[in-house]
Amino acid sequence: MDKMLVLIKPDAVERGYIGRIMTRIEEKGIKLVAIKMVHLNRKKAEELYSPHKEKPFFGGLVDFITASPIVAMVAEGPSVIQQIRKLMGSTNCAEAEPGTIRGDLGISIQNNLIHGSDSAESAKREIAVFFTDQEIAHYTRALDKWLFPSEARV
Ligand code: RTP
Ligand code: MG
Repeated sequence: MDKMLVLIKPDAVERGYIGRIMTRIEEKGIKLVAIKMVHLNRKKAEELYSPHKEKPFFGGLVDFITASPIVAMVAEGPSVIQQIRKLMGSTNCAEAEPGTIRGDLGISIQNNLIHGSDSAESAKREIAVFFTDQEIAHYTRALDKWLFPSEARV
């Protein structure tokens, strides 16, 4: 089953949006299999964002993600990466569609409330920055037969 890392970023935590963002994910029917609050140090933040290390915004991004605690989660399900990235909206909140988390709650490019892995490969790498295998739950929900019918299993 597909998995991805989702982060509720420092701006969202400080603005009191942990519950609101988790609700958006849960009410879509997406299953969460791990959750923790973490205050990243610079070393871990640089590891998380290593694909961006040559970008001009890298230093500012590391400052931002280490500024306050974040909530790290693992979500699991068919096409979960596409599903959650649609809910997140475009990177730049100012351009994100209304109805998406970024479109509804933000204006900034950097302080954009939520992170979601963008591929199966980055999900594997990013999940390992935050969670051991033992910290990821394995369970089947009684409602999965309604939420994940066979046509969703591509
Ligand atoms: P994320 O990785 O957080 O899910 O977001 P994303 O895929 O939509 O954006 P990505 O291109 O991977 O960039 C990672 C994060 O860097 C910050 N950013 N700042 N100042 C800028 O131009 C700029 N561009 C990106 C954002 O916090 C973005 O989510
Ligand atoms: Mg990204």
